[in-house]
Amino acid sequence: MPDQPGRPEEPRLLPPRDMPKRAVGGQSGRIALLHSLAHIELNAVDLTWDLVGRFAGHSVPRSFYDDWVRVGLEEAKHFSLLRKRLADLGSFYGALPAHHGLWEAAESTGNDLTARLAVIPLVLEARGLDISPNMIVKARKTGDAETADILEIIYRDEKRHVAFGAKWFRFLCDRERSDPEVRFQDLVRRHFKGGLKPPFNDRARAEAGLTPGFYRPLVRLTG
Ligand SMILES: [Fe+2]
Ligand SMILES: [Fe+2]
Repeated sequence: MPDQPGRPEEPRLLPPRDMPKRAVGGQSGRIALLHSLAHIELNAVDLTWDLVGRFAGHSVPRSFYDDWVRVGLEEAKHFSLLRKRLADLGSFYGALPAHHGLWEAAESTGNDLTARLAVIPLVLEARGLDISPNMIVKARKTGDAETADILEIIYRDEKRHVAFGAKWFRFLCDRERSDPEVRFQDLVRRHFKGGLKPPFNDRARAEAGLTPGFYRPLVRLTG
């Protein structure tokens, strides 16, 4: 697999620290939020197909790949829904700069499937579950039902992505006879710099099989 995914000429990619402050409120705030979400979803498309391709030679059941192919298609659906919403509001993906930090997690876990599952679905996508419910409420409150509907679709799908991550992470730990919670904490400490930040959406995480014993201990140690 290539080290970097192919990208359109726009948006301009900036290091996270050089990103201009995002507009808040009003039409431009709405567009800025949709734009940053579209960028995250485009990265999610790349991350998923990178997972499928990079680890294609691993001896895992075929259903492993079936799950991630489904995820890849759903990430593409999310990107398309957001891009369409940007167009409805008179903007487009590429109109604003976007940050270049999202591929780091892929680079640091390029040689280790267990680490990749720990960091992408079980840290980053689980983080999405923490944040989404508030975003949905806010969008509805400000009269943007169309965006809220899209975010609800994404939230529902992302719960399944975390569940796939938890299922296959446990499978790999089982096979190497390691304790999944201990292994998770070890891998996240090694491969994820940001630290895990509460509040957590414990219910949604648990529904996806990611119980607090996995992530709670990481708050104190990395936060
Ligand atoms: Fe997504
Ligand atoms: Fe996802």
